[in-house]
Amino acid sequence: MGLRDKDITINIIYDGKEYGLKTYSGEYRSLMVLIYDNIYTEDFGQCKGMGRCGTCLIELLENAAGLSASDRNEETTIKKMGMAGLTVRLACQIPVNASLDGILIRIIHELS
Ligand code: FES
Repeated sequence: MGLRDKDITINIIYDGKEYGLKTYSGEYRSLMVLIYDNIYTEDFGQCKGMGRCGTCLIELLENAAGLSASDRNEETTIKKMGMAGLTVRLACQIPVNASLDGILIRIIHELS
């Protein structure tokens, strides 16, 4: 199977709509970039992947067990936002690879 096969399906809920986006490993630098390129989300990904702004916050809903763990910077940003303990991640810290296949996430866009 070639790298170019769009064999990863990422399901995203945003603003009451569900999107089923197809991609392949390495097409996008991160889940944040994939979302930014495919769905119009106001103010999403403002720090362009530095892990500091928190505007790329997503909630993991289904099939997220294979994701790599968040690092300390990501945890700090999420804690600062008062979201610690919830099943949330920064999309810019999640690489696009096969571990995302079949995942269901929700974009959290109402930030204070
Ligand atoms: S883009 Fe800023 S924290 Fe992810």
